[in-house]
Amino acid sequence: MGDYPVAEDVGDILFSEKEIADRVVEMGAVIAAEVGVDPKGRPPLLVGVLKGSVIFVADLVRAITAPIELDFLAVSSYGQATQSSGAVKILKDLDHDIAGRNVILVEDIIDSGLTLRFLCKHLLAQQPASLKTCAMLVREGVREPDLTIDYVGFRIPPAFVIGYGLDVAQRYRNLRYIATYRSRE
Ligand code: IMP
Ligand code: MG
Repeated sequence: MGDYPVAEDVGDILFSEKEIADRVVEMGAVIAAEVGVDPKGRPPLLVGVLKGSVIFVADLVRAITAPIELDFLAVSSYGQATQSSGAVKILKDLDHDIAGRNVILVEDIIDSGLTLRFLCKHLLAQQPASLKTCAMLVREGVREPDLTIDYVGFRIPPAFVIGYGLDVAQRYRNLRYIATYRSRE
């Protein structure tokens, strides 16, 4: 774990590969038990938010031992910065029509909740049968009021984190663990 070539940027390891894997299996079981087929008999549609959620989504869908379909949305909110600009833009919309479907929106991390709030509004306008929200991480602290996150992997303290899909300027997504980011600036 310590031999990654950018290890000097890696701070404290918050969740190991094993801890993440165990938690994802638990989450998959809960989701499989709670979200079933829609009134027309179609399986749930899991919507991952690119790119941060891809690693989590890849593990989560395999932990859901029931039929499930997959789609992705791409948004841009942070650019190269480690602070939210607050502006969310859809870079890639869904391939599926979600009207009448049971949808599970999957995010990497919820910070202010602005991205999630924007995406929920966007999806609810298309009248899914149901919409559940899921995040690998939720940062403790100030968050949008009235924002429900149905499935949460871990709650974390207010530090910027990397790994398991999470990036700084597109790097570190391939770390197998989740760690704090130690900025050299
Ligand atoms: P929010 O809109 O403020 O909730 O920000 C959510 C988005 O910001 C996430 O989907 C991430 O892409 C990004 N983000 C927030 N915190 C972190 C972090 O600690 N590491 C990497 N990306 C983050
Ligand atoms: Mg990101």
